[in-house]
This record gives sequence, structure tokens and C-alpha cells, in this order.
Amino acid sequence: MSSSSLHVGILTGGGDCPGLNAVIRGVTNSLIKTVGARVTGIERGFMGMIERRSRPLDSEAVAGILNQGGTILGTHNFANPFSCNGVDVSDKVMEYVRELGLDALVAIGGDGTMSIANRFTPLGLPVVGVPKTIDNDLMHTERTFGFDSAVAIVAEALARLETTARSHGRVMVLETMGRYAGWIALEGGLAGGADVILIPEKPYDLNEVIRVCKEREKKQGYTLICIAEGARPIDGGMVVAKHLENSPDPIRLGGVGNVLRQQLEQHLESEVRTTQLGHVQRGGTPTPYDRVLATRFGWYAAKMVANGEFGRMVVLKGDECASVPIEDVANRTRNVPENHSLLDVATSLGVSLGLPA
Ligand code: F6P
Repeated sequence: MSSSSLHVGILTGGGDCPGLNAVIRGVTNSLIKTVGARVTGIERGFMGMIERRSRPLDSEAVAGILNQGGTILGTHNFANPFSCNGVDVSDKVMEYVRELGLDALVAIGGDGTMSIANRFTPLGLPVVGVPKTIDNDLMHTERTFGFDSAVAIVAEALARLETTARSHGRVMVLETMGRYAGWIALEGGLAGGADVILIPEKPYDLNEVIRVCKEREKKQGYTLICIAEGARPIDGGMVVAKHLENSPDPIRLGGVGNVLRQQLEQHLESEVRTTQLGHVQRGGTPTPYDRVLATRFGWYAAKMVANGEFGRMVVLKGDECASVPIEDVANRTRNVPENHSLLDVATSLGVSLGLPA
């Protein structure tokens, strides 16, 4: 296959996050400008491959999207060609791939998207993966784009909560996203000046959280608590918001901030309020850091396609892009390590992690 006849598909799968459009732009422009490839956008993730929905992408189509949130291609949480309402429709999808004449696919997504995408390589559609998630919880990459934008929203929310907490002498609980990893709450909490940061990797002692709030009731008069949706007490489980049977990730967490509020109210004089930030963390314009990271990932993915490095996912190692086999990433989670230096930073500054004394 000569470079100029290269035809590459690109899709965004799973939940959206700020920076997806910057990757689409990065991949498209790099492929067009460096190897003269043709690029086709598949709409709504793997659903577009099932429903045969795609459109050509060129430099004009991706102009002006660098700082736009969401994804111009749309995405889908549940679509899986290997189990579409329980039926394997991958042969039909491959017919569509052959009709389009795709030589390769760039799949931008999380662990679920990666594991589905990688199954197309042996069927004749080689894949390059690009990691995305606000949760920053994908293995082998030090950062995922979208995370910095989510952290910025958490920090901004804490700054706003601080002034009202101080005015009323209240305890303000801010619940962040992040699934089973505490990255968003940890970095967002540090950036926003939280007094207590509770993350899934460090089950919290409710009595310790109460003790900190009582002490602050006397001294500072108010407390800011940043709690990850996956945080749990030492003697309890995570709070599940809903079960979604068809989703590759069937559990949605959420609600722990309200549970904590109810528990604290029984022991404190101050009033307690909870804010669940939810999807505000996923929407809107990516930060400049995320725009640059997403652009670099797009550029590197295009290089990998041009060099025939398939079955691999772009990662950030140190300050450089590199790649790892997709199977090393699929269905795995990167948690905050036991002795991560940010935990030390937090406790050294007097931030409580709610740890048992
Ligand atoms: O993985 C990204 C994420 O935003 C998680 O932080 C959150 O738990 C989940 O997705 C929410 O999923 P949904 O958009 O399906 O409610």
C-alpha cells in the first residue's frame, strides 16, 4: 500500500471528555499533511460501524474544533459489534469496512473501547489506540487528556464553595467523578485547597473526618471536603448510583457525598451541604494543557499508522509520547499508588486524607 492510497477511519468511543476534538484534528491534519492519507470519521463510536454512519474528514472539516468540548463525531457508551444485543455483528461491520476501503482505524477511547477495537486487528482492520478519560486511570500513560480540564473545574468549584463555606461557617462536601481512582479528587482537592480529601485508594475513617471537622469548627469555622465518587469508609462499600446492564462498565458510582453529609450532620454543630459536580467535569472547553496533550497524541497516532505500528496505544511516558500493546491496557485501571508523592504533599500541608489514627 503506498502512503498516498492510505485510508484511515477514526472514531471516539465511551464517555466523552474535553480534548477529543483536538485529537481528531491532530490525527486528520497530520495524516493528510505528512502522508497524503484519506480520513473518514465514524459517527457515534462503534455504533457508526454497526449502523454504517461515517463522513469524510479533511482539514476544513476539523478547522476550528481545537478548543471545542465533546466530540464532533459523537460517541456511544454501549455499542459493541461483538455483542450487539447479544449478537456478534462483526462480520457485517467488516463488510462495511471493506466497502469504505479502510486500511486502519484510530480508536480514541478508554479501556472498554480499547478492548473492543483490538479485536478488529485479526479481522483485517489494524488499530491504533488513543487513550482518553477525565479519570486519568488508564494503565501505562502518565496523563490522559481531559483530566487537567476536570481538575480545573474541581479547583474552581472548591474556590467558589470556600467563600460560601466561610461566610456561613459550614462544612461543604464536593463530590467528584473518577470511577475507582482518586486522581481527580486528589489533584482537584489540592488545587482547590480542600481541607479533607477522600479517595477510593485510602478508605476513610468517619471518626477521623468528624474529628477534623470539629477541630476546624473551633478554629477556622468551616471545612472543605473533596470526596471522590469511589471513596468508601473503612467499614463500608462504594455508593452505586445505578446499574446499566448493557454497558461494558455496568456500574455507575455516585452519591457518597450525600451519604457523608448525613453522617456528619449527626455529629457536628455546623450545617453540612453537598455539591455533586457530575458531568460539569466532562463538558466544556479543554484547558490549554489538554489541547496540547491531545494534539500530541493525535500527531503520534498518525505517525504510528504511517509506520504500521498497529495493535498499540499511544501513551505519555515522562514528557514524551510512546506506545504500548493495547492488550496491556484493556480492562485494567491505574489507581493512585499506595505511596504516591501527592499523598505525602497533602498530609505534609495538613490536609486530612481521613486515615485512621
Ligand atoms: O469515566 C468517565 C466518567 O465520567 C466517570 O468519572 C464517571 O463515573 C462516569 O464516566 C459517568 O458515566 P456516565 O456518563 O455514563 O454517567
